[in-house]
Amino acid sequence: MSHVVLRNVRARYGATEVLKGVSLELAPSEFMAVLGPSGCGKTTLLRVIAGFVGYEGELIVDGKSYDDVPAHRRDMGIVFQDYALFPHKTVSENIAFGLRMRGRSRAEIDSRVDDLVRLLQLGSLGQRFPSELSGGQQQRVALARALAIDPKVLLLDEPLSALDKKLREEMQVELRQIQQRLGITALFVTHDQDEALALADRVVVIEKGMITQTGTPRDIYSRPVNRFVATFIGRSNILDARCVRVANGQAECVVLGSIPVRIPAQDLPPAGEAIPLSIRPESVRVAPAGAAGNAGMLAAGEVMHAVYLGTHQELRVALDEGTTIEARIVGREAFACGDRVAVGWSEEDVTPLRP
Ligand SMILES: Nc1ncnc2c1ncn2[C@@H]1O[C@H](COP(=O)(O)OP(=O)(O)O)[C@@H](O)[C@H]1O
Ligand SMILES: [Mg+2]
Repeated sequence: MSHVVLRNVRARYGATEVLKGVSLELAPSEFMAVLGPSGCGKTTLLRVIAGFVGYEGELIVDGKSYDDVPAHRRDMGIVFQDYALFPHKTVSENIAFGLRMRGRSRAEIDSRVDDLVRLLQLGSLGQRFPSELSGGQQQRVALARALAIDPKVLLLDEPLSALDKKLREEMQVELRQIQQRLGITALFVTHDQDEALALADRVVVIEKGMITQTGTPRDIYSRPVNRFVATFIGRSNILDARCVRVANGQAECVVLGSIPVRIPAQDLPPAGEAIPLSIRPESVRVAPAGAAGNAGMLAAGEVMHAVYLGTHQELRVALDEGTTIEARIVGREAFACGDRVAVGWSEEDVTPLRP
């Protein structure tokens, strides 16, 4: 149940700076997902915490500076992306490894391995070798090995990415249950936005070695701070607005030439700059043109693209003003290419982004 603080952490490989001043804090027992595209520095961040790569800045665990603590004394539990099990050791020996390195007694090791075999439902697999296990079973062994030393922090590097979809979803639930049962602080790296939103207490979004946004899954999805977050996590329509006037803390803006929208004045960029606004496809209402449901609609257009996906329909509408907008329609109404439609949205579903 450790408390972890990173302050202004920088890491480089040769001349290339890969982490450019990362600051974050994990509360005891918090499950935090690190989300970002491939190459943004996620694995490097875990390696910094584990003590495998040098860095500038500070790492503080439970109030103690770890900057001079070598990797083998940090007591971090790590699950690597490719599991990295020892191929010539059995399941039990793999799980026992960290305890043996720490010189624990035979009896203590046996009892701990038993506990973990039970926790991860590895039942009768103790004497098998990694090559005799399925991907899902290897994943459990890697997790058991990481947990064996009762680590301060559990560091997981895309641990589920090698599993097929169904198994991955089962393991997500299980991983979350184990993390909560043990109350262990965990940092979970993924490039899968659904996984991050589904599992984490909070999500950190990293872009090119810098944190773009930290927040609960709900914050991140409903209030993305910039274009990158708005389009990397879910889909977004981004419309440029222009401010007409400011009154009573509200900026009165227009989008698509003449559609009014109000945003908090504090979200305005410096005068003269366009204000990008994010509107999620599921927040866009669509109705047949000229129908009774057109009251309160904001723009007219033509359906360019319509895909039926069972739970919903995805539409791309070319607005008469010249922009294309995406909509996600749940319900019985069906639209087809070429349909004339009216579209609209509510002001509370419009999120101003940083330019
Ligand atoms: N050992 C290394 N030597 C040089 N460059 C590296 C090394 N490891 C990673 N990099 C580079 O650092 C950047 C971040 O890598 P990484 O942390 O692995 O990203 P992620 O895990 O988000 O995909 C990438 O551009 C990668 O090519
Ligand atoms: Mg990686």
